[in-house]
Amino acid sequence: MMKIVAFGGSIRSTGKSESAVLELATKSNNIDELIKNAKQALESTKLSNSEITAAAALMGARQLGAEISYFPLRKLFKVRESSVVDFDPTKLKLDSDIPYVDTLSMNNKNLTRLFDTIKNSDGVILSTPVYFGDRSSVANKLLQLTAQNNMLKNKSFGVVSVGAKRNGGQETANIFSIYEATAQGALAVGNGPKTCQYGGTVVAGDTGRVVDDVWGLETCYATGKRVTQTAQIYQKGLSAANYSHTIRKNDNENIVDTFKLKILVTMDYRDGRALATVKQLTSKLQKEYGNKADVQIVELIESDIFRCIACNICPIPEKMDKHPTKIEKYACIIENKSDKLNEIRETLLDADGILICSLNDIERGHDTIISRYQAFVERTRFIRRNNFELTNVPISSLFINNIEADNNSILDLKTMVSYIRHNSIILKPIKVVTHQGNILVNGEDQMRNFIDTAMVINQGRKNSTPIEVNYVAGGDGGYKDDRLDQSSSKRI
Ligand SMILES: Cc1cc2nc3c(=O)[nH]c(=O)nc-3n(C[C@H](O)[C@H](O)[C@H](O)COP(=O)(O)O)c2cc1C
Repeated sequence: MMKIVAFGGSIRSTGKSESAVLELATKSNNIDELIKNAKQALESTKLSNSEITAAAALMGARQLGAEISYFPLRKLFKVRESSVVDFDPTKLKLDSDIPYVDTLSMNNKNLTRLFDTIKNSDGVILSTPVYFGDRSSVANKLLQLTAQNNMLKNKSFGVVSVGAKRNGGQETANIFSIYEATAQGALAVGNGPKTCQYGGTVVAGDTGRVVDDVWGLETCYATGKRVTQTAQIYQKGLSAANYSHTIRKNDNENIVDTFKLKILVTMDYRDGRALATVKQLTSKLQKEYGNKADVQIVELIESDIFRCIACNICPIPEKMDKHPTKIEKYACIIENKSDKLNEIRETLLDADGILICSLNDIERGHDTIISRYQAFVERTRFIRRNNFELTNVPISSLFINNIEADNNSILDLKTMVSYIRHNSIILKPIKVVTHQGNILVNGEDQMRNFIDTAMVINQGRKNSTPIEVNYVAGGDGGYKDDRLDQSSSKRI
């Protein structure tokens, strides 16, 4: 059975709340029920806001058949003899134990439990309060420990967070943690449709106020589901193919389908330096994988990509209506013959894995980088809005990064942020590191890692039952035109 664990990053947790969080997640079947049950629980039990968001996420995981567990990270730390405050914390409605938590030294018994829990889990959800636009120091400990012990590799991973203010940094907190988890090899996901943002984002300040944010709790619930679906796909891939993790050309003849990797070179110099680096990297790997993998490099520099004209409704229903049996028809309003978007879209729809290649380099004089990166990503809007055509496709960045340059220095992060919105699964970025024209890190191992992991996901997707996915334009602060909201597609 799929095992999903949520970690709570609140210092305000009593540390004794496991059963209450699990009871909430088990007893409730939708957000209204969860809120009702949470209100009732709060009358007798101390639950921090991020514990209730954890319960919402775990409810989603449980509904998809996962065995769920909860671990308040506060328990990781020892208890001090003397308090750090000289007044009664309960007067501030704080737990009386809080001044005694020594966040500098670990409780080894609970640390071992934490390690065992992660090892045995298929997916991890971090539920954290927002502190200064980031996760709490208690939540941070989790990612330090998993990094030191390489524990997140190939685990699906999502984040839910709660801050006292709207726009209080919930998204930045989530993005930082997701990004760092991908660096640790996790399979990172957001909250999936309908919004496909960066996980759960909730507004609540005082303890218990979380029950007022129905929309926010919905995003947590959706994150729990998305983490579970992704873990299921990965596990199906592993068991269906019955292979150990790496496949090379002479391995496992059961794998008959070729893995199709598409690399989009979105930035380059006129002389094609970035393209040459990508070709050098891939030609060696293509030999290793033989017919098990097919790498196609799509170069966008010479292509015309018109900018998105920001239609009120996208994709254009009139065009889709003309082809009612072909809902997947190209339906961007831009139909100029030299515009390459449809061609690229067809390439992407055929992909088992996608790498977005970008370039950070020092530009000298007229030797400037041509960038199609931003224009291309904004034009993918209709792909996303046509019920997330790239659902579950493993995507990451292939970032050619000159360590001295800083004009495009966060392109790997930006790639994650934009492409997670396609309901994809984000994998560890591949970084080619350069300095003064020399390649310091060639990215080969990271590229192998990407292909190997994406192959398992691809196998898992083939063995999964398609699920209903639908894009919703309307809703709070969204678009008025709700014609697209009625459509849905089956996606694997
Ligand atoms: C040190 C500290 C920093 C905080 N920073 C932010 C912030 O940047 N943005 C925000 O919206 N809320 C911020 N908050 C408020 C908490 O995120 C909020 O109260 C949250 O509900 C706490 O969750 P918990 O009950 O699970 O501990 C901060 C709180 C503390 C104590």
